Amino acid sequence: MADTVMLIGFMGAGKTTVGQQLAQATNQKFLDLDDEFVKETGSSINDFMNANGESGFRKMETKILENRLASPGVISTGGGIIESDTNRQVIKDSGATVIFLQADFATILQRLSSDTDRPLLRQLSMKELTDRWEFRQPLYNEVANAVIMTNGKSPNKIVHELTNML
Ligand code: S3P
Repeated sequence: MADTVMLIGFMGAGKTTVGQQLAQATNQKFLDLDDEFVKETGSSINDFMNANGESGFRKMETKILENRLASPGVISTGGGIIESDTNRQVIKDSGATVIFLQADFATILQRLSSDTDRPLLRQLSMKELTDRWEFRQPLYNEVANAVIMTNGKSPNKIVHELTNML
């Protein structure tokens, strides 16, 4: 396996669940950048975004990415990490193997239907969320070394595909 495997994809793609299981299966360290954000700022993402807006969140997210990227093992990222040109360059330059966990928008919506932790789900209208999803697809593809379609697959199955691939 590569020194660092980074999982990217929209909210609800399964990055954290798959990342934890992949790390366990391959005996690697696991790092979730959203958790690192909370540790670093001492604030939940909800509270941080309420106080600093999405742009404040994005600035801090870039710092966390830059500081944690050297960590070997499996890293799961926040769904919007690829929005900034800087972040995409940082990710490409990192040498990490980047896996895009892809899912249909309808599947994503279903998985997120009872979520209360993600501020953007409350702040954005359905049209804005759809636009965000469409805007991000080429950006995930731009930095990804491989894409895994996750519709209808258990985390276990996805981890199996990943361990065969890496
Ligand atoms: C975000 C996704 C979240 C978190 C924050 C913003 C986004 O991470 O970073 O709420 O912009 O898509 P997950 O993709 O892990 O839910």
